Amino acid sequence: MKLSKFIPTVFFSCIFCLHALFLHSCVGLRLSGNETDRLALLEIKTRITDDPFGVLTSWNETNHFCQWHGVTCGRRHQRVTGLYLNSLNLSGSISPHVGNLSFLRVIHLVDNRFSHEIPPEIRLLRRLRDLQLANNSLSGEIPTNLSACSQLHTVDLGYNLLVGRIPDELGTLSKLLKIAVDNNNLTGNVPYSFSNLSYLEWLSATFNNLNGSIPDIFGEKTNLRYLSLDGNRLSGMIPPSIFNLSSLSLFSVSINKLHGTLPANLGIAFPSLEYLGLNTNQFTGSIPVSISNASNLVHLAISENQLHGKVP
Ligand SMILES: *[C@@H]1O[C@H](CO)[C@@H](O)[C@H](O)[C@H]1NC(C)=O
Ligand SMILES: *[C@@H]1O[C@H](CO)[C@@H](O)[C@H](O)[C@H]1NC(C)=O
Ligand SMILES: *[C@@H]1O[C@H](CO)[C@@H](O)[C@H](O)[C@H]1NC(C)=O
Ligand SMILES: *[C@@H]1O[C@H](CO)[C@@H](O)[C@H](O)[C@H]1NC(C)=O
Ligand SMILES: *[C@@H]1O[C@H](CO)[C@@H](O)[C@H](O)[C@H]1NC(C)=O
Ligand SMILES: *[C@@H]1O[C@H](CO)[C@@H](O)[C@H](O)[C@H]1NC(C)=O
Ligand SMILES: *[C@@H]1O[C@H](CO)[C@@H](O)[C@H](O)[C@H]1NC(C)=O
Ligand SMILES: *[C@@H]1O[C@H](CO)[C@@H](O)[C@H](O)[C@H]1NC(C)=O
Ligand SMILES: *[C@@H]1O[C@H](CO)[C@@H](O)[C@H](O)[C@H]1NC(C)=O
Ligand SMILES: *[C@@H]1O[C@H](CO)[C@@H](O)[C@H](O)[C@H]1NC(C)=O
Ligand SMILES: *[C@@H]1O[C@H](CO)[C@@H](O)[C@H](O)[C@H]1NC(C)=O
Repeated sequence: MKLSKFIPTVFFSCIFCLHALFLHSCVGLRLSGNETDRLALLEIKTRITDDPFGVLTSWNETNHFCQWHGVTCGRRHQRVTGLYLNSLNLSGSISPHVGNLSFLRVIHLVDNRFSHEIPPEIRLLRRLRDLQLANNSLSGEIPTNLSACSQLHTVDLGYNLLVGRIPDELGTLSKLLKIAVDNNNLTGNVPYSFSNLSYLEWLSATFNNLNGSIPDIFGEKTNLRYLSLDGNRLSGMIPPSIFNLSSLSLFSVSINKLHGTLPANLGIAFPSLEYLGLNTNQFTGSIPVSISNASNLVHLAISENQLHGKVP
């Protein structure tokens, strides 16, 4: 009896020993999650070459990284969930180690002086919901593999130096509510794959080098409120599906090479319209009388076309 109890104990403690040994040797290779986060943040810090407000002095060993300026953590696991570093005049590049912050949901680096490319390692952030990098000097292309961040609902990359096309793959980000890429040097067009973004509320790509005609992708975008494509080289006619977007409050395609006539029912089609920008194109025909039915309209720009008639 005694022996039979003893044998399994020995047996299991040996297994335990082996297990412990194995674990021990693994610890050297695989860090605990919070340590990975701490190291990633320190790597991010080393790539920031100028910090005129000195906010990153708080990123030091005397306090836990969850207390560092602009860092938020989840309450339970003490893993980094947000980076909030807007408007701090930070210069340098965004470290690829950002991709190691695997619990990250929010990246706000708006209005700084970050340069170089958007690190493609962002694709590793499977929980990322909100990516805002506007108003920096980021160059290179929009990483195609951003499409791996399937939880993304906001992507704002405006006011940078980005080139290349808007990746077709972004059309697979089915939760996307807002995409803004204004004031870059993007070419190509709004991808046709965006017809799949059925929750989209905001699409803006003003002041780029987009060309070709606006794709007819607006058929089922019942939530679209903001559509702004000013200052490109878009040609052709406004696709008819746009005039089905009764939710639009801003519709602006000023300063392009669009032609065609405006539908007579324009003001009725857009009952919530507050901002209508059609100026500096090649529209012809008469100014729709129904504009007076858009009772919330506060901004109307239709000059520099070949339109005739009176503004009602
Ligand atoms: C990381 O997690 C381990 C185990 O959960 C814990 O002992 C340690 O204090 C944590 N370190 C930090 C910096 O949060
Ligand atoms: C570390 O951060 C704390 C908290 O912000 C700050 O008070 C302290 O001066 C910092 N230490 C160093 C050496 O910069
Ligand atoms: C922030 O950057 C701007 C533009 O580069 C510069 O004019 C301004 O002086 C900077 N502010 C600080 C506090 O460094
Ligand atoms: C962190 O990210 C870098 C760059 O992507 C990678 O080389 C490194 O192995 C990662 N480190 C950890 C601990 O995951
Ligand atoms: C962008 O940066 C410029 C210059 O630093 C600043 O004047 C402007 O307010 C910023 N805009 C936004 C939206 O952050
Ligand atoms: C990006 O995704 C494509 C497939 O969608 C893959 O072929 C490519 O290797 C990925 N790039 C990186 C850097 O992971
Ligand atoms: C934008 O790209 C075009 C070519 O694609 C180039 O000719 C132009 O100089 C670029 N503009 C800026 C501001 O970088
Ligand atoms: C929309 O999504 C479906 C299902 O994922 C896919 O088969 C289709 O090709 C997509 N359409 C476009 C235009 O990308
Ligand atoms: C858009 O511009 C590029 C280069 O400027 C040109 O090759 C392409 O044919 C244009 N596409 C359309 C649809 O006009
Ligand atoms: C506008 O919507 C109506 C009803 O949903 C639909 O029958 C029609 O085909 C749509 N027109 C366009 C141009 O998408
Ligand atoms: C549009 O406005 C006109 C005159 O202001 C009015 O007679 C007409 O009933 C309105 N139409 C709709 C659909 O509201």
